[in-house]
Amino acid sequence: MGSVAALALSATMALAADKTIGFAQIGSESGWRAAETTVTKQQAADRGLDLRFSDAQQKQENQIAAIRSFIAQGVDAILLAPVVATGWDAVLQEAKEAEIPVVLLDRQVDSSEDLYLTAVGSNLVHEGEVAAEWLIGAVGDKPCRIVELEGTTGSSPAIDRKTGFENTLKGHDNLQVVRSQTGDFTRAQGKEVMESFLQAENGGKDICALYAHNDDMAVGAIQAIKEAGLQPGKDILIVSIDGVPDLFKAMSEAEANATVELTPNMAGPALDALDAYWKDGTMPPKFIQTESKLYTQADDPAGEYDRRKGLGY
Ligand code: AHR
Repeated sequence: MGSVAALALSATMALAADKTIGFAQIGSESGWRAAETTVTKQQAADRGLDLRFSDAQQKQENQIAAIRSFIAQGVDAILLAPVVATGWDAVLQEAKEAEIPVVLLDRQVDSSEDLYLTAVGSNLVHEGEVAAEWLIGAVGDKPCRIVELEGTTGSSPAIDRKTGFENTLKGHDNLQVVRSQTGDFTRAQGKEVMESFLQAENGGKDICALYAHNDDMAVGAIQAIKEAGLQPGKDILIVSIDGVPDLFKAMSEAEANATVELTPNMAGPALDALDAYWKDGTMPPKFIQTESKLYTQADDPAGEYDRRKGLGY
């Protein structure tokens, strides 16, 4: 590296190293969420940032209290993974008045765009579309009764993943979502709700496929399907979203069929955007989109499991 470039890099790093960031995390409801927390802490440490972390135990009021506390501490920026989409206007306005940039991670809010610097995340509607397209291809012309495990009620991934899936099924009348209920993105509730679906659907014999808004609920449902004496991945097709190691393990054992990957590294692009903003006021785009890639049993799930299992999940 030339000396000018090295100087510029060290100046940027010195700039970032002086900064304090508050991270208002949702909780640890899923393997994906735990990985996002690990990756965010690692990204901050790698850049020499002082990261103050708050786990809101999936409660919006705790996240709002954490943001107010970060404002009172005078942090240089706030990372917010908003548990639900609505109800943020007042606290985001307070952060704006305190001139503290807020970056949204992985979920969206219904607030005006001028209340946050940028949002890093996937196209959540597209994830639902990708899941539906895979299922349409797998089922063909056969009639298919689908059950759906929704994410946290009122959260942007639950709303958008449902929309994308439903829109894509339009015109494919042989595929019908016959039951839909929240499993709150957790493994335990995914299992519990799947048990009730199985009971209501002739012990599961009338269910052709499960669409779960995240892998953890799918993993819980797989357990319920096995306990009901059916073969997940064969008697009931399973498509979900996230790409966590346990889902790849299930795919390698032919107990799940497909997942749409969501990277847990939202912090990398978020901190890059903040670095540029701090350095010379560069305004990032309002949405920094991460990739959504489909994986199936044909995509070396055992290898993917090995590659991912140490990555903070
Ligand atoms: O907002 C992203 C979603 O939140 C993930 O898909 C899910 O696992 C998590 O709880």
